[in-house]
Amino acid sequence: MPVLQWDDGLNVGVGFMDADHVVAAEQINGLADAADAAQRAPLLAAFIDHCRHHFAREEGLMEKTGFFALGCHRGEHQRVLSELAEVQAKLEAGESLDAYFRDDLPNWLMIHRNTMDAITAEFARSAGYTG
Ligand SMILES: [Fe+2]
Ligand SMILES: [Fe+2]
Repeated sequence: MPVLQWDDGLNVGVGFMDADHVVAAEQINGLADAADAAQRAPLLAAFIDHCRHHFAREEGLMEKTGFFALGCHRGEHQRVLSELAEVQAKLEAGESLDAYFRDDLPNWLMIHRNTMDAITAEFARSAGYTG
């Protein structure tokens, strides 16, 4: 059973955010299922690449709509990218980090979706933006 079961009930109502979150959940499920550090390394590289693009798009949306907590949301994106870079270094050193990929990272996505992303999307929708 995958660690994340993403469905339409988790949509925030902004098209690109919802589409990107589906991809992120699939990538995290792959990382959780992977057997060891060697299997995880390329999957993590792809996940980091996805996050960079996704975060930039969300930050662009926040700029466009004048979102009041842009600094806070952007700061969390930067924090998690730093964390992922540290995790990447540990994988390269051979640590498999099972608990991180099976618990911590899925939990982070859910919390981030439920807090900063949900509020950002609600604000954008109230400004008429659903794309
Ligand atoms: Fe997001
Ligand atoms: Fe976000």
